[in-house]
Amino acid sequence: MTDIRKIKRDFPVFIHNPGLVYLDSAATSLKPQSVIDKLAEYYTKYPANIHRGIYRISEKATEEYEKSRIAVMEFVNARRFEEIIFTRNTTESINLIAYSLGRQIVGADDEIVTTVMEHHSNFVPWQVLADEAGAVFKVVDINGDGCLDVNTSNLAGIITKRTKILALAYVSNVLGTVNPVKKIIRAAKKINPKIITVVDAAQAVPHMPVDVRDLGCDFLAFSGHKMLGPTGIGVLYGRYDLLNSMFPFNFGGGMIKEVTIEKTEFPPPPARFEAGTPAIAEAIGLGEAIKYLQTTGMDKIAAYEKKLTAYAIKHLIESFGADIRVLGPKTADNRVGVLTFAFKNYHPHDIAHILGEENICIRAGHHCAMPVHNRFGLAASARMSLYLYNDYYDIDKLIDGLKKVKKILK
Ligand SMILES: Cc1ncc(COP(=O)(O)O)c(C=O)c1O
Repeated sequence: MTDIRKIKRDFPVFIHNPGLVYLDSAATSLKPQSVIDKLAEYYTKYPANIHRGIYRISEKATEEYEKSRIAVMEFVNARRFEEIIFTRNTTESINLIAYSLGRQIVGADDEIVTTVMEHHSNFVPWQVLADEAGAVFKVVDINGDGCLDVNTSNLAGIITKRTKILALAYVSNVLGTVNPVKKIIRAAKKINPKIITVVDAAQAVPHMPVDVRDLGCDFLAFSGHKMLGPTGIGVLYGRYDLLNSMFPFNFGGGMIKEVTIEKTEFPPPPARFEAGTPAIAEAIGLGEAIKYLQTTGMDKIAAYEKKLTAYAIKHLIESFGADIRVLGPKTADNRVGVLTFAFKNYHPHDIAHILGEENICIRAGHHCAMPVHNRFGLAASARMSLYLYNDYYDIDKLIDGLKKVKKILK
């Protein structure tokens, strides 16, 4: 990959926080100067609303906003720009499907299948929908290594003709596991060709090349803020024919074709699902973040993070032996750089607090994934997560910090 020192220089937070060791990118990523500049460019040069004004700065804002949609389309290899809906985040993208399509197609005794490793964003909307519809909510388990306890041969026992929706994470935000989503989708569609597949790619799109056509998924959701972009902007990719058959989720300005006292007609996607003034600056900023990732190269980013992950697993296990419990796969294959761990006698919040005093940022808690913590008999855990601006030194600092934690809490 490009010189890591050069990459660090692109992120001004390191200038303002000398010695910062940021290992919490699964929560949100840092932002490069180019994205910050792009936000400022919108607010300084063409801060108008979009799709309405017939004057120059509004046309420029519209052009930049729609350019970002094209950038997202190309980034995930969607077939057409209308398949890209801008939302606030992954959570809103998944809720959009659950409220719109979910309530159209799921009825009593139907089934919704998800997994125990999901973030609450891809668990609770389906659980609530199943409850409301009187449907069966099926949760696929994982094995001790944090991999899905499902392969294409036993999927037949889980997916049936009554399964309306299969919702699963591409990458777990606790275990780091990369699920064989393409294989699972293909097998599920063989059992039930009408099944709707929803992929939560919040932890995948920032870290590896993702191709919606290759995956064969119907929907895919992710957040701009985890991939160097601004907060408040998310994406829902959806197959056009499905989006076009769905009823809107929010109603208001920007998403109507014609309104009379008698009735309202809605436009086709994406406008149908983007009610009200959207996050204009943030969408434009996301386009710039994609440019940064593409220039660096998604393959290179994935390969570099894999090396860092292998180094982190090895050194955590070597340094703390039986004291530490690392969740998820123990090799860097089939996983990303999200490493969650627990120490027998130390509370994750104490660990994160002591590391925080050393300017080392990690996460403590249940990481919005209580079912998977229950699965491993844990109430909480500590989590470090990597991105392209991390280096071996950051991991060494974490290990030194954890040694200090041991000394203090002994
Ligand atoms: C796997 C996964 N899904 C969904 C989300 C929710 O993302 P957001 O809070 O941006 O909606 C997260 C956030 O951590 C996540 O890791």
